[in-house]
Amino acid sequence: MPDATALAPLVLSDRINAMQESQTIAMAKKARELAAQGVDVISLSFGEPDFQTPQYIKDAAKKALDEGFTFYTPVPGYPDLRQAICDKFKRDNNLDYKPENIVVSTGAKQSLANAVLSLINPGDEVIVFSPYWVSYEEMVKLAEGTAVPLVGSLENDFKVTAQELEAAITPRTKLIMYSSPCNPTGAVFSREELGAIAEVVARYPQVYVLADEIYEYINFVGEHVSIAQFEEIKDRVITVNGFSKGYAMTGWRVGYLAADKKIASACEKMQSQITSGTCAMTQRAALAALQGGRSSADEMVEAYRRRRDLVLELVKEIPGFRTPTPSGAFYIFPDVTGYFGKTTPTGEVISSAQDLALYMLNDGHVAAVDGAAFGAPNCIRFSTAAADEKLREAFIRIKNSLAKLK
Ligand SMILES: Cc1ncc(COP(=O)(O)O)c(C=O)c1O
Repeated sequence: MPDATALAPLVLSDRINAMQESQTIAMAKKARELAAQGVDVISLSFGEPDFQTPQYIKDAAKKALDEGFTFYTPVPGYPDLRQAICDKFKRDNNLDYKPENIVVSTGAKQSLANAVLSLINPGDEVIVFSPYWVSYEEMVKLAEGTAVPLVGSLENDFKVTAQELEAAITPRTKLIMYSSPCNPTGAVFSREELGAIAEVVARYPQVYVLADEIYEYINFVGEHVSIAQFEEIKDRVITVNGFSKGYAMTGWRVGYLAADKKIASACEKMQSQITSGTCAMTQRAALAALQGGRSSADEMVEAYRRRRDLVLELVKEIPGFRTPTPSGAFYIFPDVTGYFGKTTPTGEVISSAQDLALYMLNDGHVAAVDGAAFGAPNCIRFSTAAADEKLREAFIRIKNSLAKLK
C-alpha cells in the first residue's frame, strides 16, 4: 500500500498556520517538562486562582446532576441563569438588561470570540489596548480583521488615554477591545478615564466596544466601572464577564456577554453552529454562584491583595525591575529592560524579555511569561495567584539568578 501522506502531504489551513500557540500555555508546558525531569519548578505563568471553587457552588452542581440536568441546554443559556445575570448587572453595575441581551458561553473566552467573529469583516480594524490579553489579537486574526495595538505608557500604568484613542481611530475602525482590571498589567480604568473614552467613542458611530470585565471582582481600588454605564454608547458596548476568576471556576467553563439584542442574537447564532449551549450542570452551578452573592469573592480578594503587597515588597529588592502597582487582577508586570545586554554565567547575552524569562526558568526554576505575547516585549508577567510561601521562595530565587548576570 503506498503511504498516502507521502503522496499528499497534510496541508493545514492558512488560518491555523497563522495562529500563535498561547504563550501562557507554552510556558506552562516548558515548566511541566522541567518538573517531569525532577526539577522543583515554581510556576507563576498561569492566570488561574489557586483557590478551590466555593463548596456551595460544588453542591449545586452535584444536585443538578442528581436532578437530571444532563441534556442539551438552550444555546444562549438557561432562562433563569440569564435572568440572574441581568440581576447581577443591575446590582453590581447599575445596568439594565433583559435575558434577550445575554448569551452564556463556554467561558468568557468564547464570549469574546463570538463577539469578534460576529462583528468583524476582513479588513476591519480592531484597536486593542496594549498590553492586552494574549487571545485578543489571535481572535481578530481569525476573523480576518486587523488588530491595531494601541500601547499605554508605563507612566500611566499602561493605560491608554482618550486622546491616544482618538488619534488611532480611522474610517476602518470597527471595534475597541480592552480588559479592566487588566490582564496582564492589573490596571483599572477610573470612571473619569472611561467617561473620556466613551465621549470619543460617541463621536464615531461605526465604532463598537468589547469590554472584558472578567476580573471585575478582583479589584483593590474599590470602584469597578463598566463603560456600558455611559448611556450615549451603551448599545454599542458588549460587556463580557464570567465565573472563572471571581468565583474560582476556571475548569467549569462558563462566561457570558451582554449586548444589544441584534449583537446578542448574532453571537447566539455563531455559538449554535460551533458548540451549542454550555454544560448543563455548570450552568446550574453558575446560577447558584450568582444567588450566593459576591462574599466568597471578597474573601479571595483579600488574599490577592495581601499577595500583591507581599510581591511588591519582594520586587523592591530586585534592582532593574520597573513595576507599576496593580490595582486589580493577580499579576505583576515589570518592565525588565534594565537587564538587556547583560550576560549569563554560561555566556549568553540577554537581549529580550523572552531571554530573561527563559534564563529565570533554567537557572532559578521559576516560570513566568514574557510580555511579547501581551504586546509588551519589554515586560514579564508574573502571576501572584500562588501561596505566600511559594511567592517568597520564587522571588528570592529570581533575585539570586538575576544577581549572577554581568
Ligand atoms: C482578560 C481575560 N479575559 C478572558 C479570560 C477567559 O476567561 P474564561 O476562563 O472565562 O474563558 C481570561 C482568562 O485568563 C482573561 O485573563
